[in-house]
Amino acid sequence: MARPNISITCLIPVFFLATVIVAVLIMIGEAPSPAPEMESESTYTKYTTVTGYFQQDDPATEDKNFDYTTSNFGLINKSYDGDSDSKTQWEKFGVEVARLNEQARDGTQYKVLYMGRHGEGYHNVAEAFYGKRDWDCYWSLQDGNETSTWVDALLTPTGISQAQEANDFWRRLIVTEKIQTPQSYYTSPLLRCMATANVTFSGLPLPSDRPFVPLVNELIRECIGAHTCDRRSSKTIIQKNYPDWPFSEGFSEEDPLWDAELRETGEAMDRRLRRAVDEIFGSDKNTWISISSHSGAIASILRVLGHQTFSLGTGQVIPVLVKAEKVAGEGPPREKGPYTRVSTCAAPPPTLSP
Ligand SMILES: *[C@@H]1O[C@H](CO)[C@@H](O)[C@H](O)[C@H]1NC(C)=O
Ligand SMILES: *[C@@H]1O[C@H](CO)[C@@H](O)[C@H](O)[C@H]1NC(C)=O
Ligand SMILES: *[C@@H]1O[C@H](CO)[C@@H](O)[C@H](O)[C@H]1NC(C)=O
Repeated sequence: MARPNISITCLIPVFFLATVIVAVLIMIGEAPSPAPEMESESTYTKYTTVTGYFQQDDPATEDKNFDYTTSNFGLINKSYDGDSDSKTQWEKFGVEVARLNEQARDGTQYKVLYMGRHGEGYHNVAEAFYGKRDWDCYWSLQDGNETSTWVDALLTPTGISQAQEANDFWRRLIVTEKIQTPQSYYTSPLLRCMATANVTFSGLPLPSDRPFVPLVNELIRECIGAHTCDRRSSKTIIQKNYPDWPFSEGFSEEDPLWDAELRETGEAMDRRLRRAVDEIFGSDKNTWISISSHSGAIASILRVLGHQTFSLGTGQVIPVLVKAEKVAGEGPPREKGPYTRVSTCAAPPPTLSP
């Protein structure tokens, strides 16, 4: 405490002198304009993934065959400072995260994001059926084919059972591991994510102060444009399906972002998902956060968080411990980024026969 007092005391005469000089200059009409760094002291939030707690952020872990349900969500067995053996690993982790937040400096916070990719949708089946080339240049631009529809794609029976597995998983971790359940829920406005979240979190023994009421958030949707599976339904349709779920501010009736010909680049996605993460860290006081989203959007969030690449199969979920610090500077761009015109095929390409 003594040091700041001394330096402030030393500076008082300096401030006084400076004030007098400025006052004199104003009187004689020669007031200097304030230094630029004084008038725009901008800050931004810098995100880092805190490694060492989850297997998924270890470069030695392969994403390909990783299964969150058989690995205790990837939480590494270890003891943290001062924990007791009678607690489960997830209880210890809960205490550890609370400690990190209590001891954090001003402007620094920690959150745990549970990010789930939706279960298999009809568009995933169609992409596998037609192959990436034909899917990208023709079929993804159609609403469906004669027998299947993938505009704002719904979950297949497999996708529903993946969400059911996630539900079983959460129930088991709540009961046996005493995992910290989400305090806030966010979902992409695409129907496959909302359906996945609904099956995953309905009917669980959740604490009464942490109910499952997700915020439908426009910013955490999949790569925008061209592919009809990524065009969202109207607000009216969403509300009809999920009458009790609130919407993020300014959520419009019709999809304001989708464009039939232009598709977001990775750079544009990273800017959008950074805005989404900024919004969550800037406005949500809670620590334990669930995000129901997509492979591309979650990959982008992982880049924003400085996490290693970790691809998720349909229905997979990844937890990330995030440190967020307010630092000086402008930070990476957040305004709308570049879109590209997709290359199309005029007719369905001849199906490649096996
Ligand atoms: C972690 O600890 C649990 C409980 O003691 C044990 O069942 C599990 O096998 C351990 N996992 C690993 C990877 O060591
Ligand atoms: C439509 O696409 C699905 C795959 O999504 C495929 O199983 C089905 O055979 C296709 N229908 C026709 C008529 O080609
Ligand atoms: C959401 O889940 C609840 C509880 O299982 C169910 O009653 C409801 O029909 C589901 N909503 C939709 C749109 O699937």
